[in-house]
Amino acid sequence: MSFEKEIKRRRTFAIISHPDAGKTTLTEKLLLFGGAIHVAGAVKSNKIKKTATSDFMEIERQRGISVATSVMGFEYKGVKINILDTPGHQDFAEDTFRTLTAADSVIVVVDVAKGVEPQTEKLVSVCRMRDIPIIVFINKLDRDGKDPFELLDDIEDKLGITVRPLSWPIGMGKSLKGVYYIPDKQLNFYDSDDKQHKEEPVKVSKLDVEHLQKYIGSGTEALLDELELVNTVYPEFNLEDYRAAKISPVFFGSALHNFGVQELLDCFIDIAPTPRDVETVQRHIEPTEEKFTGFVFKIHANMDPNHRDRIAFVRICSGKFERNKNYLHVRNGKFMKFSNPTAFMAEKKSIIDEAYAGDIVGLHDTGNFIIGDTLTEGEKLKFVGIPNFAPELFRYIENADPMKSKQLGKGVDQLMDEGVAQLFVHQFNGRKIIGTVGALQFEVIEYRLKHEYNATCRYEPIQLHKACWIRSENKAQLDDFKKRKYQYMAKDKHDRDVFLSDTSYGLQMAQQNFKDIEFFFTSEF
Ligand code: G4P
Repeated sequence: MSFEKEIKRRRTFAIISHPDAGKTTLTEKLLLFGGAIHVAGAVKSNKIKKTATSDFMEIERQRGISVATSVMGFEYKGVKINILDTPGHQDFAEDTFRTLTAADSVIVVVDVAKGVEPQTEKLVSVCRMRDIPIIVFINKLDRDGKDPFELLDDIEDKLGITVRPLSWPIGMGKSLKGVYYIPDKQLNFYDSDDKQHKEEPVKVSKLDVEHLQKYIGSGTEALLDELELVNTVYPEFNLEDYRAAKISPVFFGSALHNFGVQELLDCFIDIAPTPRDVETVQRHIEPTEEKFTGFVFKIHANMDPNHRDRIAFVRICSGKFERNKNYLHVRNGKFMKFSNPTAFMAEKKSIIDEAYAGDIVGLHDTGNFIIGDTLTEGEKLKFVGIPNFAPELFRYIENADPMKSKQLGKGVDQLMDEGVAQLFVHQFNGRKIIGTVGALQFEVIEYRLKHEYNATCRYEPIQLHKACWIRSENKAQLDDFKKRKYQYMAKDKHDRDVFLSDTSYGLQMAQQNFKDIEFFFTSEF
């Protein structure tokens, strides 16, 4: 197969949802269709149950699972599909944000009864920032849920996207009869009890009552009215608009009962974008360029504390990656080669000789990589679009064992490189502050410092609302701001100015009173 064809047949995407909407179940069903697994239950749920907040073994188990399921590749109808896994627990939202930098599109799973939930809102807002094409799968149709039109309104309002249903439910819950798949004009029947004798789908030549009644019975008129409304209310589906993230097709189904999943997958491989162009500080990169480029979007520490190696996950942005070939690690200026690059097919890991733009490879790392690092064949490039997000939870971190301060320093540095949290140094008192997006991270850090670095930390409270980066062309105003807000100024690990606002009012006032200062809520500006 030609080099270009290899790249064009790749579809790399992430499934995102609020915990419990059905992400794991849908992933599993997609893998079953792809023949990548043969039994249900093979994909482990990658989530920490709420009750497990202080259960460190559970955190370790979660970390183990998330290595195994970080990427799941499989072949389907000649297409190479890479599903990027995202952590289920909301405290790991930042991991998910970063994973989205490696995805070309997403499928958002929404629970038919619960509608749009907070975590989905947050994640989709990140997709919108990056214009990532979105497909919506409304799940659990076998249960009673909200009215489909109401649900679509909720999705448009809360997620800020324009939707276009491509399938439409016929009933719901106990009265679910099936879905009408709009592009193929096809009725797909749902039979919850008798899976052996499932009725074959029926092509519908024309949408009229007599014709449909023999298949649907009593709900026919309601379906026809609804379909008419769908066509009047929602714009036509259009491929360019979807790929430009201007319109999101919607599917209805039940992942658990394997219903509506096949249409979703078949449509996905038809419409989902191939590996996208990527921006670097220096220039624009196209996936079909011959030379390899890629960036690290995720680092995973080894589970075994005796071997402090890690896996750096690299998204290939262009060209072909080859085993044992020399690549430039741009940040530290050194050439490196990798003898055991890993690819992930379904639940199996294997060493590969080559991989193409769109693919993810796992590289064994002994501490050389940090998130955002670039690998190339020699060109000095830096990818953009891999930001840190302004943290919202803060604690001072102190060394609790004076004999182990070196270990603590090293451990904290490495955990920050992995992107577990962000470190700031308070200018006022020189103390170190850990900032996170989720409370669980503090426990993860404490536990991992102990078990992987033999260091003990202690946290002390600090009352803060948000940390944001500041910048200004107006040096006098910036200096004045920093002088006045001396108690609230910090530096990040790249020595950039960070404003630690203690209240949302304080932040608002600062924005109002210092008009020439820009406040940034992601680290990339
Ligand atoms: P998540 O990864 O998004 O967190 O969700 P997951 O797939 O783990 O699904 C959450 C729960 O919802 C699971 O039940 C799962 O079986 C159920 N579920 C998923 N899809 C459907 C569906 O289409 N219909 C119905 N009725 N349920 C669905 P659980 O009881 O929490 O876990 P389990 O014991 O079944 O694994």
